[in-house]
Amino acid sequence: MQSGVWALQPLVDMSATEFRAWQALLEERTGVVINEQRRAFLQTNLSARMRELGVADYASYYRQVTNGPRGAVEWSTLLDRLTVQETRFFRHRPSFEVLEGYLRGRLQHGLAKPWELWSVGCSSGEEPYSLAIGAAEVLRDTAQPEHFGVTGTDISLNALSKARDGQYGARKLEQMDADLCQRYFARQADGRFKVIPRLAARVCCARLNVLELAKAPMSGMDVIFCQNLLIYFRRWRRREILNRLAESLAPGGLLVVGVGEVAGWQHPELIPVADERVLAFTRKSL
Ligand SMILES: C[S@@+](CC[C@H](N)C(=O)[O-])C[C@H]1O[C@@H](n2cnc3c(N)ncnc32)[C@H](O)[C@@H]1O
Repeated sequence: MQSGVWALQPLVDMSATEFRAWQALLEERTGVVINEQRRAFLQTNLSARMRELGVADYASYYRQVTNGPRGAVEWSTLLDRLTVQETRFFRHRPSFEVLEGYLRGRLQHGLAKPWELWSVGCSSGEEPYSLAIGAAEVLRDTAQPEHFGVTGTDISLNALSKARDGQYGARKLEQMDADLCQRYFARQADGRFKVIPRLAARVCCARLNVLELAKAPMSGMDVIFCQNLLIYFRRWRRREILNRLAESLAPGGLLVVGVGEVAGWQHPELIPVADERVLAFTRKSL
């Protein structure tokens, strides 16, 4: 069949069994749940990729994706189509205001070891760079302006490569204060803006599946941001992940979660931050 003709074929509906198989595969590997309301989303994105590859049916493509190392490469591409990677700088301002207040408070107690901040599900880097800018601003007029490091982790290699690249279109920076843009980004010849090397040097990005936190070397974190990721997960899994994140916090550390992403979760070591605009906790000090 000619590819042009194939592209015009109407989408074949997925059978209930095929839907369940794809749904289960995505949840098992990423935690992301595609419910019945998002069935069309799954079907559209799968079939778009299948067209690119010239695969005619969902079952063959499923076998391809689950078949050994070659399947793993294809899975990595497909993942970007099936997960939401939308993000912004300083997304949810109140969370960053709480961060700033928290870091200023820490500063008053003096600087011992460098602050370690972690963006869980960092997508293309806007969140970890926002954390880095937040810390850099608090430390700006101190004797140790670089006394922090930010780690961004994500399951998507494509998102991580964008994060490492640290270049953004002008529209991405529109919402940011002009003086922050000026201090932390350099305009490129093509009109895009690149994070300045001094800030980029404080940020590192690595692949980490939040379902595998038990294997992660992260501990003693001063700040953890986990926003707009758990929303796609089942409730029991959200709680399980938050329990692990709580354990990765240093005594006195701050955990910020997306508002409304987990209801009624508590941890014996954590104290909720008294600010109704945010969902944040600090770990009890030793
Ligand atoms: C909507 S973005 C949120 C980005 C940022 N935290 C924010 O609030 O703007 C969700 C990110 O979570 C990532 N993600 C999805 N499942 C994941 C998993 N199991 N482990 C790690 N990252 C995951 C996606 O690749 C995506 O980049």
